Amino acid sequence: MRWSGVVEGDSAYFPRKKLTVVGSGNVGATAAFLAAYKELGNVVLLDVIQGVPQGKALDMYEASPILGYNAQVQGTNDYADTADSDVVIITAGIARKPGMSRDDLLATNVKIVAEVTANIVKHSPHCIIIVVTNPLDAMVYTAKQVSGFCRKRVIGMAGVLDSARMRSFIAEKLNVSISDVSAVVLGGHGDSMVPLPRYATVGGVPLTEMMDAKSIAEISQRTAQGGAEIIQLLKTGSAFYAPGAAVVEMAEAILKDQNRILPCAAWLEGEYGITDYFMGVPCKLGGGGLEGVIELDLNEQEQAAMASSLDAVKILVQQVDALGVF
Ligand code: NAI
Ligand code: 2OP
Repeated sequence: MRWSGVVEGDSAYFPRKKLTVVGSGNVGATAAFLAAYKELGNVVLLDVIQGVPQGKALDMYEASPILGYNAQVQGTNDYADTADSDVVIITAGIARKPGMSRDDLLATNVKIVAEVTANIVKHSPHCIIIVVTNPLDAMVYTAKQVSGFCRKRVIGMAGVLDSARMRSFIAEKLNVSISDVSAVVLGGHGDSMVPLPRYATVGGVPLTEMMDAKSIAEISQRTAQGGAEIIQLLKTGSAFYAPGAAVVEMAEAILKDQNRILPCAAWLEGEYGITDYFMGVPCKLGGGGLEGVIELDLNEQEQAAMASSLDAVKILVQQVDALGVF
């Protein structure tokens, strides 16, 4: 038998998309694995620790014959390997331990995210960056300032995760399929996030018609504390399966130009009366990255909650600016 891997002749060339995940810890490795499994493109996993991204990437690649996906997965410590990525996910940094707030992470992670962003931009000047590292609202601000990219190309992951938590609590309480539950959580990714039960639906029916006010309030509260709940259980780190899935949903929307409507941290330019801050809002994500922002009509109580969440984000941004890292 003879086989030639090369067939001569003219043909269109459709290379696979390229996705880089920086940080090969819990969230980064989960995201890389899901992205490969979903065949979003070839995946590069980068970390400062020698051997770990290489080992995890090889392990993921060796899972591909079993799971049947076609994607290369490369582990590296060298940014040159990330060159010309279409999407870069930043998960590098430290994670919360019990008793730590997301904000406690700020001083350490701002330096890491600034350094990572500078390296990404050098090698992938046309990429779209999705930031996961906490405190999210401060880190996505850092990535935007350091990259100099427009708002279409720097987006933060929080709302997809927070909304997924709310959806799962609703589905559990009503004993209905998660597929039929939709929910949206706006605002910053902190204790002051803004679950919007008025915009949640179950099979198209408003949640407010399906559940009593006390249960809705309990679910909103549990959603806002969703990250802390997992940390209390794990004790050694924070959530990673749902965060990994959440950021891959965003990357997929971009890499496949799906025009999904997903709650993300977007740099606002007047929407919701907010200018020059990242806030969690419903976004349209497609091939160009952030392609639109949906402005929901908020009642007085919801507007007050957004204002209070914005105050929390402003404090984080002031803390970042005060560090003078960039
Ligand atoms: P982890 O500790 O498992 O992984 C972090 C990885 O970053 C480590 O492998 C570490 O070596 C690497 N790293 C550190 N400095 C680096 C650098 N300069 N360049 C490249 N890699 C570097 O942490 P985990 O659980 O993966 O969480 C990552 C971050 O994501 C944390 O800040 C966490 O709080 C945040 N997070 C955010 C969520 C969100 O909704 N936005 C949800 C879950 C986690
Ligand atoms: C979470 O919400 C820790 O931000 C992370 O799970």
